[in-house]
Amino acid sequence: MNKWFFLNLLLLGTGIWQLASRGSISVHILFGALGLLFFLFNWTRHAVFTTIRNTENRQTKIKLATFSKKIVPFHRWIGTTALLLIVIHAVLVIRLFGFNWHYPKIVSGLVAGMVLAAMVISGWMRLIRSTARKRMIHIWLGISLFFAVAVHLVL
Ligand code: HEM
Ligand code: HEM
Repeated sequence: MNKWFFLNLLLLGTGIWQLASRGSISVHILFGALGLLFFLFNWTRHAVFTTIRNTENRQTKIKLATFSKKIVPFHRWIGTTALLLIVIHAVLVIRLFGFNWHYPKIVSGLVAGMVLAAMVISGWMRLIRSTARKRMIHIWLGISLFFAVAVHLVL
């Protein structure tokens, strides 16, 4: 098991805990939660790829590689949909609270939203023409996005 499986579960748990501690879930929160699920689904690819690279067990390697091959055609659309859901989340939130810079959730959310946009752009650039540099940029944006979302949920 790669540490990213554990970290992803922890982030999912934090999201669920935040939702559970609210009395009711309004539409703007629902879009944020869906965006989180779509992001985590795509980001788990990193955990799967790292496990494939590190595992000694050939059977596990083959199983995970076959599984991730099936997901490839959906990856780009799941990522783009995550951005769309978060743009709706942001529009609803800003209509509700305005640009309130004293509300940490607005500031941390905007940071996460910008990294997500960069992530999606880097994904499309990688798809059009892949290079080792673009691959590293896509992965490092993913790691930054993970921590930006973690800060957004904890604050
Ligand atoms: C990757 C990007 C994002 C994800 C995954 C995300 C996810 C979430 C989730 C799951 C919640 C509800 C749980 C909680 O309160 O912690 C939430 C709340 C919130 N988000 Fe985001 N969000 C993102 C981006 C943004 C952006 C761009 C904004 C900027 C406007 C924003 C502003 C807020 C605010 C203000 C709340 C609290 C709403 C309230 O108290 O009713 N988020 N977000
Ligand atoms: C939430 C957004 C996204 C996340 C978290 C994400 C994450 C990842 C991860 C972890 C990998 C594997 C990295 C590796 O090579 O070791 C990957 C690969 C890739 N991503 Fe994304 N990605 C996102 C959005 C996109 C989008 C919108 C596209 C658009 C085309 C895209 C295109 C690709 C391509 C072409 C690859 C390499 C082929 C493959 O292994 O599937 N990604 N992505």
